Amino acid sequence: MLILGIESSCDETAAAIASSERSVRASAVLSQMDHAPYGGVVPELASRAHIRAALPVIENALDQTGARLRDLSAIAVTQGPGLVGSLLVGVNLAKGLAYGTGLPVLGVHHLEAHLFSALIDSDLEPPFVALLVSGGHTELILVHALGDYELLGATLDDAAGEAFDKVAKLLDLLPPGQLVMGGRAVSASAEHGDPTTIRFPRALSGRDTLDMSFSGLKTSVLTYVNSLRNEGGQEALTAATPDIAACFEQAVVDVLIDRTMRALKSRCIDRVALVGGVAANRRLRETLAEAAETIGARLTVPSIALCTDNAAMVAAVGAHQFAQGSGGGRVDEGYDLDASPRLSLPGLQASRPA
Ligand code: KG4
Ligand code: ZN
Repeated sequence: MLILGIESSCDETAAAIASSERSVRASAVLSQMDHAPYGGVVPELASRAHIRAALPVIENALDQTGARLRDLSAIAVTQGPGLVGSLLVGVNLAKGLAYGTGLPVLGVHHLEAHLFSALIDSDLEPPFVALLVSGGHTELILVHALGDYELLGATLDDAAGEAFDKVAKLLDLLPPGQLVMGGRAVSASAEHGDPTTIRFPRALSGRDTLDMSFSGLKTSVLTYVNSLRNEGGQEALTAATPDIAACFEQAVVDVLIDRTMRALKSRCIDRVALVGGVAANRRLRETLAEAAETIGARLTVPSIALCTDNAAMVAAVGAHQFAQGSGGGRVDEGYDLDASPRLSLPGLQASRPA
């Protein structure tokens, strides 16, 4: 079995080839540069860049394995959620390639792909709790089995990655003309700061909830930045930036770890996975590893390349779907697949009684 995965839901164009849900043979990712002067992703530019990049990226993934299109078993593509124009490029390309080669096309949910990133090259088995932290989502999901998901908690407002991105802008950490992920920029600055100097709020802490909130934290950083600038000017702000970054990062990490530990304890689960773009954050990876160890839970964290958007995780879900379909039923051709910007996670149910 060889599955080609294609990912184009936001601003990464990616292709990968998997031979099973745990084994990825090749992976290629191209991050877009075109948005840098605008300080954020411009949907129209993203779609155009996907069109330019998609075929070369797919060829690159195929070349890495020596496989050709005719050697594939199926083509898996991110169907949603995401930017509709970006999704359409991947979905239509996948359908075109599939139709031309007679292969089936499989639609993949972006969040399910992030969940599957924890399986690649690992022996993690359900049940496990996944802390899924990305630019658009912050969720605690109990994976009862592959395809059977329970939502334990989620952010009530901003996603953790979104908060990182906004704070990166506030602190002026995104140099014009260069494409740097906001979270990575904050985290790099935080390395030089002291996380104990400013006490930013940890919303909902101490309450009996697995939900989270980051918008108050972001406002609190904004207020702090404004008052510092008013009192001491830009110089004072520049000098304090690493401390602000470190204290903000610590506040996000504290909230995420508190809810994750609560989730594990309340459901008596001893396996936890950290996935999504924010899972690339060093402080979060290290602190969660320590916290998991204190309660005897086993933590699985994918490599950094598998945390931020990639197609390896899409190919992994495709491999799982294909194996299930070919073993237990018919694999549909899928030529009527459509991009679905607000797709909900298949198999996800609201919290069940513990
Ligand atoms: O999963 P992802 O690549 O795309 C989405 O599905 O959203 O996540 C992107 C998010 C961005 O908000 C980015 O700032 C954040 O992940 N991120 C980080 C780090 N690297 C990427 N956040 C904190 N620390 C990092 N090192
Ligand atoms: Zn993502």
